Formats: sequence, C-alpha cells, structure tokens
Amino acid sequence: MDSTPPNSRRHLLSSSIILLLLIDWKQPTLTRATGIKGGFIRRKGIRLEDEDGKPFLVHGCNFYWLMYQAADESSRIMVDDVLRDSKSLGLNVGRTWAFNDGADRALQISPGIYGEKAFQGLDYAIAQAGKHGIRLVLSLINNFDAYGGRPQYVKWARDAGNYLPSNDSFFTHYVTRALKILTRVNSITGIAYKDDPTIMAWELMNEPRCVSDPSGDTLMEWVKEMGAWVKSIDNKHLLQVGMEGFYGSSTPGRRWANPNDIDGLGTDFIRMNQITHIDFATVHCYPDLWLPKLSESRQLSFLQIWVNIHIEDAEDFLDKPVLFTEFGKSDRSLDYKPSQRSDFFWTVYDSVFSSANSGGAAGGAMLWQLLPQGMDQWRDGFAVLANQSSSANVISWQSQRMKRVATNLFHSRSTPVTQLTSHV
Ligand SMILES: *[C@@H]1O[C@H](CO)[C@@H](O)[C@H](O)[C@H]1NC(C)=O
Ligand SMILES: *[C@@H]1O[C@H](CO)[C@@H](O)[C@H](O)[C@H]1NC(C)=O
Repeated sequence: MDSTPPNSRRHLLSSSIILLLLIDWKQPTLTRATGIKGGFIRRKGIRLEDEDGKPFLVHGCNFYWLMYQAADESSRIMVDDVLRDSKSLGLNVGRTWAFNDGADRALQISPGIYGEKAFQGLDYAIAQAGKHGIRLVLSLINNFDAYGGRPQYVKWARDAGNYLPSNDSFFTHYVTRALKILTRVNSITGIAYKDDPTIMAWELMNEPRCVSDPSGDTLMEWVKEMGAWVKSIDNKHLLQVGMEGFYGSSTPGRRWANPNDIDGLGTDFIRMNQITHIDFATVHCYPDLWLPKLSESRQLSFLQIWVNIHIEDAEDFLDKPVLFTEFGKSDRSLDYKPSQRSDFFWTVYDSVFSSANSGGAAGGAMLWQLLPQGMDQWRDGFAVLANQSSSANVISWQSQRMKRVATNLFHSRSTPVTQLTSHV
C-alpha cells in the first residue's frame, strides 16, 4: 500500500522523473511515511542494529500514558509535548503501554472487544513518535491491576464461568489471547503495527511475576508459548519479556545479587531470557523501593553491582543484549537533593556507556519517567521534567556520548570515546 502523505506526493510530482526514481530507489516508502530512518531494529549477537547495519544504542525514557492521553482529543497535546521534550534531550526510544483492559478509556473493553477511540489514541502516539524519529517499546499486558492487567483477564475468565483459583492462574489458562494489537492497521499512517519500524520491540508483560511457582516453570511455559505466538504473527520486530531482572532458581549462585536476597518471584533472568524468541534481556532498577532501609551510598553500590552483573551475564550466559528498561530515583525522601538523582543516573549511564563503548552487551537504558509540563498530577516521585536542569544535563550528556559510540562502532574504529568519559 502506498502510504505517502499527500504533501510529499505533491512534492515528488513537481520534481523531475529522474529525481523521483532516485528517491524511490534510495528510500523505502516506510521511511517517508514514518520519519524513522534505518528501518527495523534487529539483533546481531550481543548488539542491536538497524537495517543499514548501523549499531543502535537505546537512550530512552518511559511515558506509559501516551495512549491514554491521546485517546481524548483534549489531552493529545501531552503526547506531542513529551515527544518534543524527548527529542530535545536527545532520547531515541520511549516505552509505553499498549494495554488498557477494562479501565477508563479502555483499549480492550471486554474479552476480544477493542475500543476504537483508544486504538486511535495509540495510532496517534505511534504516528507522532515516528514523526519525531522516536521509536517505541510497546508493552502488551500489565502484571499489576493498573489499567486492568492480569487480574482483569482473570476476572473476565471467571465471569465466563471458568475456575481460576488465583490471579496466577492467568499464566495457565489462556482464556483470552485476542490481542488484536499486532495486526492493527494505523488509521493515521495506514501502516499495520506489525510492519511499522517506529515500533522497536514488543514486550510481553510489564514486570511479570508468578510468586505461586518460585521454580519459574509456570512463567517459563507462558513466555515460550506467548513468544512463539507473537513471532508467528510478527517476526520483524524484536521481542522481550518485560522482566525486572531477578535471578531465579536456575542460578542459585546469583541469588545474593537480588534485592534482599529474594527468590526470583517466579521469574528467572537467565533461563527466561535464553528462550529463542526473546531478543534481548531487560532489567529494572529501583533500589529506593526495593531497599528503602539502606543508606544512599549503599543503594548506589547495589545499583552499580545490579547493572554490571546483568551486563556480564548477558555476555556470558545469554549472548544477547541487555537493556535497562526502567530505572529511577524518587524525590520523595526527606533529604532529597537533585544531585542524588544525577548520581543515580550517572551510575547507570556510566556502566552502559563503558560496556557499549567496548562492544559489550549493554544495549541502552530508559529512565522512569519523563513528564511534560501540565501533568503534575501524574507525578509519582520519579518523574523528570525537561526543565529540571540537573537531570536534563545528565541525560543530554549521555545522549552525546552514546551517539559517538554508535558512530564509532559503525566505522569499526578501535579508538574508544575516552574524551567524553570524564563528566565529574
Ligand atoms: C486478584 O487481583 C485483584 C487486584 O489486585 C484483587 O482485587 C483480587 O482479590 C485478586 N484475586 C485473588 C483471587 O487473589
Ligand atoms: C518546571 O515545570 C514544572 C511543571 O510545570 C513547574 O512546576 C516548575 O516550576 C518548572 N521548573 C523550573 C525550574 O522552571
């Protein structure tokens, strides 16, 4: 299908025939329709790259509410604002929810029945992200009850007369898998989601856990089955699980690295990320939620080890990239100072940079969470605004050096980007 917008078509027709041929030969239609350059992101060994073979390093953020705000014309402007802020900070990827099950402005109103208004909101978010050259990671289900989540699916299944003893029964009763999201055709760009390079990756679930089966077997089977199913419909996009990175029963020797030595909560960083259909591993980082009693400096030490050990394990045991898809520092503690968040961000960014710069498995990091002006009521303690200069400077700095690394890796220069490492 030709999805060239009317304006660029007029432009092309006014050009000479030769130029027209050159443009068509040089640039696939999708580039013109979406503003995304380089096509789909794919995995090559422990690195990500685009279709031109250019290394792709993720410097991103979370803005989970895009679809929700875009589903109502009066709040759509927030989507444009946060994308503009992302771009001004040098971010290239954003992670957002492609789920809203049975809640206000629902995407899935009832099992298999989708709300067109919400879908048009998601269409808008994807179309605008593409225009800004920002790729998206789209999460398909929530583990928690915000926006419905796993508990809503379980409730629907029970309402339909099935016997599901607990919310964890979700993973063993495939009552609904009518996810019409992958094959949705965007009402604005005319591109099916599964064919749209604006989408960098699908995420099976936001922070899946299955505490009733600490062996990990239950979640393992679910990830295998869902992974195969998603790839059977869409094998162009990357796929990841959405896990927080806890070490599970397959690696008892790594349990000490989990916060408070917890078990894997039914997940397993090594075993589940080894599944063939999973393209990269994910890690979330919340020392102040996980270890609230530790001092600031002990929390930072935990963070440093948590980040580095996952990078090492991705290289040694997974042979896949690892992305830090959520990390954040709350400003709600009594002694909070903006420099604490800067130190926190540097800890993640330095490790990611060092690894990427030496050709390692760190594929990037995405902060939680970027808010535009005018969404003060959405603040959760972790929100960063583009006008907060301390955080904005750190984010912009990381953007510059990650761009340099990607370019250097592309040209296979052996000189690392040392001149940009000394930020302190
Ligand atoms: C499932 O989760 C929901 C929402 O958190 C909760 O209200 C409900 O009681 C849970 N059901 C069971 C059986 O645990
Ligand atoms: C940044 O924006 C927020 C939200 O609109 C506002 O409350 C705050 O005062 C601004 N901060 C600065 C430093 O301008």
